Amino acid sequence: MNDTLLLFGATGDLAQRMLLPSLWALGADGLIAENLKIVGTARHDLDDAGYRQFARVALEKYLPAERRGSMAEFLNRLHYQPLDANDNDGFAALAEKVGPIGKGLAIFLSTAPSLFEPTISGLVASGLTGEGVRIGLEKPLGTNLETSRQINDAVARAFPEERIFRIDHYLGKETVQNLLALRFANALFEPLWNAAHIDNVQITVAETVGLENRAGYYDDIGALRDMVQNHILQLLALVAMEPPSNYDATAIRDEKVKVLRALRLVDPDQTVTGQYRKGAVSRQPVPGYGEELGKDSDTETFVAVKAHVDNWRWKGVPFYLRTGKRMPERVTEIIVEFKRLPHSIFASRAACTQPNKLIIGIQPAENITLSLMAKVPGLDRDGIRLRSVPLAIRMNHAFAGPVRRIAYERLLLDLIEGDQTLFVRRDEVEAQWGWIDAIRASWAEHGLKPKPYAAGTWGPSAAIALTEREGASWHE
Ligand code: BG6
Repeated sequence: MNDTLLLFGATGDLAQRMLLPSLWALGADGLIAENLKIVGTARHDLDDAGYRQFARVALEKYLPAERRGSMAEFLNRLHYQPLDANDNDGFAALAEKVGPIGKGLAIFLSTAPSLFEPTISGLVASGLTGEGVRIGLEKPLGTNLETSRQINDAVARAFPEERIFRIDHYLGKETVQNLLALRFANALFEPLWNAAHIDNVQITVAETVGLENRAGYYDDIGALRDMVQNHILQLLALVAMEPPSNYDATAIRDEKVKVLRALRLVDPDQTVTGQYRKGAVSRQPVPGYGEELGKDSDTETFVAVKAHVDNWRWKGVPFYLRTGKRMPERVTEIIVEFKRLPHSIFASRAACTQPNKLIIGIQPAENITLSLMAKVPGLDRDGIRLRSVPLAIRMNHAFAGPVRRIAYERLLLDLIEGDQTLFVRRDEVEAQWGWIDAIRASWAEHGLKPKPYAAGTWGPSAAIALTEREGASWHE
């Protein structure tokens, strides 16, 4: 376990909302060493006392009321060194603040992409890259394959891959890790988990929020690169991968990357993009994207893609992926829809069957539901009546104990302890970017522009047509 954590971007939004509350919770639950020293750095001109006050305000704002215990002990771990990442000399002072790298140093880089390269040079110059130093990298790691390679090359000049921890915060979510348990700790699903038995897979990541003061970032990026390139493709890889031989970083990532490399290039007519116009979310009127942004834009806030994994297991099975801002509800779920019955023995009209579905709720509801057909109780004269009923597990009922709401708790702990299983390897990121770049190139070639949709709806109607053309429909 490392004994110092160095946090770049220590005054940023992510630090306030996620990183400081996560570190506080890890400390409160005794999961990090008592003497773990946390050094924050950013441009703001603060000293240790100023940063402790800054952190106190953030914790008071973002920790749930029931978790706001005594803060003094935690705040005393915090130290701060102002730094302009473009000023190489500043790194000497930072290294002094960090002090001797005893058992090791974990660095967490949550900064603008333009600061990655100067930061790495500064770390090298000040001796903060040696044996025992690990680096965690927060997105965005580039905006396409080429820029992502530049960043990866710059980091690789200072750190070997086994000390680089690329973050996709979805992998820190309990329910995402539970996907592995569901698939590989139960004998039931694996024999059915293939094209012979599965009709289609759907992955929906819907958000109710709009731009959220992130205009500068979001308008340059759009939904495909903000959500599909990383989170959705990681979910897809976990659903589609072959069973790894064991639960370790190499075995799991080897299997994920095979899936990502087997993604078929997508034609533009297998994608739908949209941009929200004014509408209402949870009955509250909300402005359109252009109004929020203050100008016209062609950036997509919704995207749906029909993807295929070209291998034996998934031959012919569509993976419908969609994500959007200003959807009717916040929901992330994976639906595995099984094939229809080959033949029904029930003749009556009331006995028509629906395909079984496995519904894996990632958030906010953490439920796993298997829809099964059952007989409706009663003495019907004209034959058996059937209806789909859920066999459901509610994770918060099934398990008591502390709920870890913030994915970064898991990820920070693993970074400090040096476990790479839930971090994304370079070959995965590059396979993801390769596939996304091809989609964007085909959009550009065909002059594809996002279709309007009213805020509070499930995106443009073309997204519905995308599944219906194949006789499927989005699960809602
Ligand atoms: C981030 C995206 O990676 O994930 C945001 O940049 C998005 O646009 C967020 O809102 C969603 O994360 P979560 O954990 O709230 O689903």
